[in-house]
Amino acid sequence: MNKNNNNGQRALFTTKIGVIATTVGSAVGLGNIWRFPYEAGSNGGGAFMLCYILFIFIIGIPVLCAEFIMGRGTRSNIFGAYRKLSAGKWYIAGFMGIVASITIISFYSVVAGWICEYFVRSVSGELNMATSVEYHKAFEEFSTGNWHPVIWTLVFLALNFLILIRGVTKGIERMSNILMPLLFLLLVVFCINSLSLDRAAEGLAFLFHPDFSKITPQVLLSAMGQAFFSLSLGLGCMTTYASYFSRDTRLGRAAVTTAGLDTLVAILAGVIVFPAVFSFGMSPQAGPTLVFEVLPAIFHSLPGGVVWSSLFFFLLILASLTSTISMSEISIVFMVEELKIKRRTATFVNTAIAMILGSLCALSFGVLDNMTIFGMTIFNFFDYLSSNILLPIGGMIAAIFVGWVADKRFVKAQMTDNADSTPRLFPLLVFCLRFIAPVGIALVFLNSIGII
Ligand code: PHE
Repeated sequence: MNKNNNNGQRALFTTKIGVIATTVGSAVGLGNIWRFPYEAGSNGGGAFMLCYILFIFIIGIPVLCAEFIMGRGTRSNIFGAYRKLSAGKWYIAGFMGIVASITIISFYSVVAGWICEYFVRSVSGELNMATSVEYHKAFEEFSTGNWHPVIWTLVFLALNFLILIRGVTKGIERMSNILMPLLFLLLVVFCINSLSLDRAAEGLAFLFHPDFSKITPQVLLSAMGQAFFSLSLGLGCMTTYASYFSRDTRLGRAAVTTAGLDTLVAILAGVIVFPAVFSFGMSPQAGPTLVFEVLPAIFHSLPGGVVWSSLFFFLLILASLTSTISMSEISIVFMVEELKIKRRTATFVNTAIAMILGSLCALSFGVLDNMTIFGMTIFNFFDYLSSNILLPIGGMIAAIFVGWVADKRFVKAQMTDNADSTPRLFPLLVFCLRFIAPVGIALVFLNSIGII
């Protein structure tokens, strides 16, 4: 597959693996391995997990189908999709997607930069420390510094840029086809190791035993935000990717597979992190720094730790790249297809903006830590704004649009794969898109601002 073939037409993903590998490549990333454990840890463990899984099923998968329908059915970016399907002003939602993609890539690249630093430290043997306090200190010292985090953010974005100007398929599709399964295997090994730690049971109970009294409005909002973030949903990313699906890609199956694999990786990350948190006497509530303190301690406890950790950080950099590439595609494809800007220039503009905002996010752990927006640092504000607000609103609009506004025959034809397959669950999907997803998202919002 090449996004623009020689005649300038849109080409298609040719294999089933290509479809799944790219959507999973977008979905699986730091959201699963860095963000999920820290959000679960800060929001009551099991209570968060329960809400998260529920939201994946009742909102995530239906909205993912909606984005797939819009993308494959119109062969357009999110703007074009809204415009082709309705004369109304729905396409304005596309701008929100662009804002979300830019705020996400800015803070995401900072974390990816931290991973790069940890990869280098791992290879050079600097991650061998004796106590969890040392791991905590080491990370704090690094992340609050003014140079290293910024430089790594820029290096990561430069890598992202290089891959983007070469076109999406060549590098990434091939790479993720081979390397994502390897990352998965590695996670399974770490999982087994964590399960054998002495206080593993406590960690598992923390993650899987929901304390219903902990389900607060904040927990609901965070779990919903995490579901959207982890599935790359609500900003048109999956719409853009689905515009390259071929006619016989089964959308329902692709959505369930993508969501299933993504959720599985998040759960694996949780099973790796929490038994270790309890066994090493750390706090689950450390926030964004959690995995940078826990994971090195886990690797240290493994025989041949340096090899495991180097391989892991390397694969995580790749997993992050497949995600940032999908984020970048949103604004790049918009600039190319809607503003008729050359792909190279569009990629350059996208990277330049991300570099400026990304540097600010990186510095918000150091010199800019007292510069706050609504009481949050720039990094936290970008994360909160995109995950908890923009993505759910974008998802809600897509659900309402596909459920109520788009032509019914079009939606049905897409979802039943042009009548090639049986539409058994189709009525359920429509019900979710019309009622469950929009009402559910609205309720979580109203609840979080104290109205319900
Ligand atoms: N889903 C990605 C992850 O879990 C992050 C992402 C969000 C990618 C939004 C694209 C769009 O890491």
